[in-house]
Amino acid sequence: MVEHIFTEYNDATQALRIKDLKQSLYDDGEVIMDKVLVCLHGDEHKKRRKLENKIFTREIFQKYENIIFPKTINQTLDPYKETGEMDLVDFGFRVLLNLTADFSGIDRPLKSKKETETLLRLLKIFASGATLHHSTRDHDEVKEEVREALKEFDRDFLTPSIERRKSIISQNSNEDLPNDILTVLLVNDDQLNMPYDVLQREIAFYLLAGAQTSIHSLVHAFHEIHTWLESNPSRKGDITNDPIFIQKCFLESTRLHPSSPVALRKPVCPVQLPGNKSADVDDNIVIDLYNSNRDKKIFGDDADKFNPDRETPNGQNLYGLSFGLGMHSCIGRNLAAGVNSKPDTDPNNHHYGTVTMIIRKLISCNAIPDINNPPRMDEKTKRPNWGYYPITFNSEETQK
Ligand code: HEM
Repeated sequence: MVEHIFTEYNDATQALRIKDLKQSLYDDGEVIMDKVLVCLHGDEHKKRRKLENKIFTREIFQKYENIIFPKTINQTLDPYKETGEMDLVDFGFRVLLNLTADFSGIDRPLKSKKETETLLRLLKIFASGATLHHSTRDHDEVKEEVREALKEFDRDFLTPSIERRKSIISQNSNEDLPNDILTVLLVNDDQLNMPYDVLQREIAFYLLAGAQTSIHSLVHAFHEIHTWLESNPSRKGDITNDPIFIQKCFLESTRLHPSSPVALRKPVCPVQLPGNKSADVDDNIVIDLYNSNRDKKIFGDDADKFNPDRETPNGQNLYGLSFGLGMHSCIGRNLAAGVNSKPDTDPNNHHYGTVTMIIRKLISCNAIPDINNPPRMDEKTKRPNWGYYPITFNSEETQK
């Protein structure tokens, strides 16, 4: 068994596009990830992705960005306004959980605090299972927690959500059908023949894929912006007045902090790799997103610095490889990151993506890191994520 590691941007790009390499990042986390979209290969993957992609349309994004999400952000922020302080990691979990629950197809009929707390607890357990590869905890203990959490999720959330959708489907009224992953899977059940346990994990995975990545990217971006402002105080106006600049800050930060530092793959047959290497089925392929995204040949001499004025390298994305490439490229990228701006983009009619929307809201409330309460990294994972990030803010917005 040989481990082939790609740390340079061009090699990593090519490796991500090789069709005969299958997903292996989540092999340790199969308790929650077995047979979910990101772990499928070949025709099975293509067929499911094509169906699920039906809800990732521009119209649906617009509905979320213009109507649903501003309300969700306000409702989630309201309880913290009295004290004007909160942990940004915890807030991120709450706000993004609500959005991804809608997208995944998980109803929250009570909309009570207790219901959110329960879903949040389950989400965190699923997250620890999915990232078991990077976990510093006892792996068997985590797996048992995930199995119990899946049972609870099924009883209290998934089964009632399925029943409600099946009843709408049986009435044959397309107009009332929700736009979510669960509905797509139920409507196309005869094509997919998906066993119930796979359906269960697929929905739990969507909840995770949508929320967890965005949460960590949000906190990294907030931290990078404030650290950068300390050495560039004259640029405060760009942060407060220019939403397109904030989106660029988020994309730049996401390049520096990919949600998983590596993508892992395994050959399904003997394959040619970048750099004239070849790999056999026993070999492991490590695509180092973290270092590839800091490749000076592509992003310049300051590649490992946060520079929101960076120009898009020729034909490349500002976020580097942080949303993946090839068959598993992130299906939710536009939802989280919006679309790229151009010099003539109208800031009042631009799709910014959910994370930039949250950062804009925080900036408009003058949110800053809490100087009396330093942030801490998450010690439960080897992934370099913030675990606790206290901030303070004004309850009144200074601008919209
Ligand atoms: C900042 C936010 C996000 C980041 C950094 C991110 C990152 C990624 C990356 C790197 C991959 C590829 C994994 C691989 O190649 O092994 C991926 C795949 C995926 N992402 Fe995202 N993601 C984000 C937001 C979202 C959202 C909001 C959703 C859904 C609502 C989502 C759903 C998915 C799904 C379903 C896949 C698997 C696609 C497939 O295998 O065909 N992601 N994401």
